Amino acid sequence: MEQYAIKGGNPLVGEVEIGGAKNAALPILAASVMTDETVYIENMPDVRDTNVLLSAMENIGVIVKRTDRHKVTLNASNISELVVEDENIKKIRASYYLIGALLGKYKHAEVALPGGCDIGCRAIDQHIKGFRALGADVKIEHGLIKTQAEHLRGSHIYMDVVSVGATINIMMAAVMAEGTTIIENSAKEPHVVDLANFLNSMGANIKGAGTDVIRIKGVSHLHGTEYAVIPDQIEAGTFMFAAAVTKGDVTVKNVIPKHLESITAKLLEIGCEVEEADDCVRVVASKPLQHTQVKTLPYPGFPTDMQPQITVALGLSKGTSIVTESIFENRFKYVDELTRMGASIKVEGNTAIIDGVSRYTGANISAPDLRAGAALVLAAMSAEGFSTVDDIRYIERGYEDFHLKLQGLGAQIELVETERDLQKFKLKIG
Ligand code: EPZ
Repeated sequence: MEQYAIKGGNPLVGEVEIGGAKNAALPILAASVMTDETVYIENMPDVRDTNVLLSAMENIGVIVKRTDRHKVTLNASNISELVVEDENIKKIRASYYLIGALLGKYKHAEVALPGGCDIGCRAIDQHIKGFRALGADVKIEHGLIKTQAEHLRGSHIYMDVVSVGATINIMMAAVMAEGTTIIENSAKEPHVVDLANFLNSMGANIKGAGTDVIRIKGVSHLHGTEYAVIPDQIEAGTFMFAAAVTKGDVTVKNVIPKHLESITAKLLEIGCEVEEADDCVRVVASKPLQHTQVKTLPYPGFPTDMQPQITVALGLSKGTSIVTESIFENRFKYVDELTRMGASIKVEGNTAIIDGVSRYTGANISAPDLRAGAALVLAAMSAEGFSTVDDIRYIERGYEDFHLKLQGLGAQIELVETERDLQKFKLKIG
């Protein structure tokens, strides 16, 4: 029964180092199968989702060596299987990146349908539309997405919805297709750009990543590379909001401040001070938090992956705030847990109406998914008294050493495994 035990009420103060971006690392790992040469990747986060993907890649014959905790080398010259269906891979979303990568290189892939956090229906029609436009047959049978092509040919693809996953998958499938592919209405997230930079460093010819239109000229082969994954925008944003909700003073290091602009803008609006330097941001929350309105949008809008964290902060702000979730239809499941801590939030459809309260109180709560789980930990750290957070396996999918980094900022949080550990923690904190 792994859970976090938390005694709230301490302002978080100090410096925290941000790791590599999970959502960039996942497609970069998958894309590494597209060359027979060795690929060296640095700044690899050591989190459950990347580790599940690495072990699925090992299972199909990729030679994976972790040279240290954050460095990995991959060699896919001896891939033995184009069918990926181990038990764990079904649990992560990014399993589907192996479809684009294997299809792009081998013109054939069969991968278990993706899982991932339960935050909405998470369709994959745009991925399938893209693969078909490039000339692949796609069918879903026995829980697998099966794709096959004689040849992949460049195509002009208009995305009906802005999708990170579909943009990335189509980009990988198109990199070695004959001719030019144009993806219109593509996602612009930093991790989309990071994957394009990674593929270009392997010899691909991708232009326009980070804009609405990506142009890919097919190349005949990709070569090995050395690459460092960008810092994690959402991990950084989570610690920035940790400063806000605990009335703390936190310097978040190893970040790209440009990627955090929408998060910084909202922190300023609710009354925090934010100082930016080259590769760090400092958030100071010395004044009472103020209400605001926020709507989640594709990048450069406010990220859906930061929606629970800002809601936790607005729950402690003066006045009435409104949060509109426009990306996923089921991303307010944590509100019931927050209500048990004293929040006053009403959810109507995709909107949360939040009447700020002066404090939360500790409770035994459960993480419903990755980002909501992290947000509930922030709530518990700001709360009066003692909390436990269950189901932290969700949080471990995307945050490396979350509790240790929080401890480094002065939080009273411990990972406990038994009732005895829990009692020990309670005795220690008094
Ligand atoms: C990625 O999910 C991230 N996951 C998510 O992060 C993130 O919340 C999301 O992008 C949005 O930023 C990974 O990178 C592994 P989408 P993804 O395709 O690719 C609809 C986290 O916490 N859609 O951009 O699955 C879809 O239903 C996770 O780290 C279609 O309709 O998201 C959604 O409403 C959670 N058809 C919207 O588009 C499709 O074919 C955006 O989804 C594809 C998507």
